[in-house]
Amino acid sequence: MDNKSEIYHASNINWYPGHMAKTRRMLEENIKLVDVVIEILDARIPQSSRNPHFSDIVASKPRLIILNKSDMADSAKTEKWLAFYRKNNIKALCVSCQTGKGVNQIAPGIFELAKDKIEKYSQKGIKKSIKVMIIGIPNVGKSTLINRLVGKAAAKTGDRPGVTLSKQWIRLKDGLELLDTPGILPPKLEDQDVALKLAYTGAIKDEIMETELICYSLLENLIINYPELLIERYKLSEIQGLKGYELLEKIGRKRGCLISGGEVDMSRAASIVLEDFRSLKIGRITLDFAEEYNE
Ligand code: G4P
Repeated sequence: MDNKSEIYHASNINWYPGHMAKTRRMLEENIKLVDVVIEILDARIPQSSRNPHFSDIVASKPRLIILNKSDMADSAKTEKWLAFYRKNNIKALCVSCQTGKGVNQIAPGIFELAKDKIEKYSQKGIKKSIKVMIIGIPNVGKSTLINRLVGKAAAKTGDRPGVTLSKQWIRLKDGLELLDTPGILPPKLEDQDVALKLAYTGAIKDEIMETELICYSLLENLIINYPELLIERYKLSEIQGLKGYELLEKIGRKRGCLISGGEVDMSRAASIVLEDFRSLKIGRITLDFAEEYNE
């Protein structure tokens, strides 16, 4: 069953071209004001949760990559991603903003990236904080990270001369200042497989693509990459070679998602599987593999 063209059309929501231009202007303006950019990615899909259209702007400042939601990702695959970033001289950390794991490595990471600036300030005898902004596509955890970093100790520093009016800076306890509003990047939707991965993880909402189609595709992906987790969760026997909709039918039947006439309610079954995936019931899963990419 090939639903690709249907899904493709459904995923062409109106981020383009006006939104892209607006985001570009916002980023250009804000990045000028900071010393370091924190780019948050979803550790389950580090490549698909980037938007490479903005790499040129982001690359103008030292960048710290945060692989967030690492509590949901396959830790062996996350290690491979960290090795990949190291190899490409990109500073990256694996974090869970929900549990707090790894968050205390962020400030030292920023200071390391800003060491030239800090050195320059100290030579000139200037006492100045390092300024940071957070960017990322929707749902990667930007607000959760801001809340974690800010904690109780922060104070808003407000507008000051030399800082663009209306920008709010939050002073963090250890000599860092954070722009209070994160840069929201549009998700990258032109690529079919990327759009689907964003749909599995909930970065784009289910109304945009059909739940069943998303689920067929997720299951096909899991049959290849994590068959043992599917077998365990749904008490299945042989699943290799099944199409997504065939597997969903089996799962729906096992779960009693039936409609009159004994047919499977595929829509209900799809919602169950997607919810299981998003709430970690299937297991910790990564769907972008470092081995396949070159920065
Ligand atoms: P955003 O600002 O980038 O859009 O993301 P936000 O912080 O709102 O986080 C999106 C969802 O992801 C939130 O769930 C949040 O709790 C969850 N989240 C953030 N960081 C982590 C993490 O490290 N691990 C896990 N497991 N979850 C994390 P939510 O409020 O339930 O929203 P939703 O999932 O219903 O969209």
